[in-house]
Amino acid sequence: MMIIIGKVIHGAQLGRRMGFPTANLDATQIKGADNGVYCSRAVVDGKIYGAMSNLGCRPSVDGNNRLLETHIFDFHGDIYGKTIEVRLLSKIRDEKRFDSIEELRRQLERDADMCRAALADGAPKKESFVSMIRRACSTIYPRGKQRM
Ligand SMILES: Cc1cc2nc3c(=O)[nH]c(=O)nc-3n(C[C@H](O)[C@H](O)[C@H](O)COP(=O)(O)O)c2cc1C
Repeated sequence: MMIIIGKVIHGAQLGRRMGFPTANLDATQIKGADNGVYCSRAVVDGKIYGAMSNLGCRPSVDGNNRLLETHIFDFHGDIYGKTIEVRLLSKIRDEKRFDSIEELRRQLERDADMCRAALADGAPKKESFVSMIRRACSTIYPRGKQRM
């Protein structure tokens, strides 16, 4: 598992129009995690939510800056400017280029089904002892953008 802590920045708002708004963190400094789509959890104001995240450059919309985009399940609220924690639990697929926004939207629906099922299955329980210690340390010392 990898934990990323950062401030939510503005995106292009396309996610919202597709029905999947995302909390975006700058990911240019993140090392040690491959680009791709992850089943994740997000911590906002001390509350933990199930989530799904894309780490990468969004080839379908010609994005160029590397971002960590997280769609938080069952969360409705404005979190721009807030500092949040994203826990990448397991990679579910590679990031790919879709020919249309509609195809990307359909894929996001499949991703959401898979992640919700994995989270309900208790994905966090598979966390190793070492990552648990790392997580505890990063919670106590949350300075810096990225902690393993
Ligand atoms: C779970 C998830 C999976 C994604 N997978 C891809 C992908 O495979 N290819 C891609 O180009 N963009 C992918 N995206 C990024 C979307 O293109 C992006 O969220 C959308 O363009 C909205 O961007 P915005 O935050 O700037 O509005 C994914 C986003 C999420 C949340």
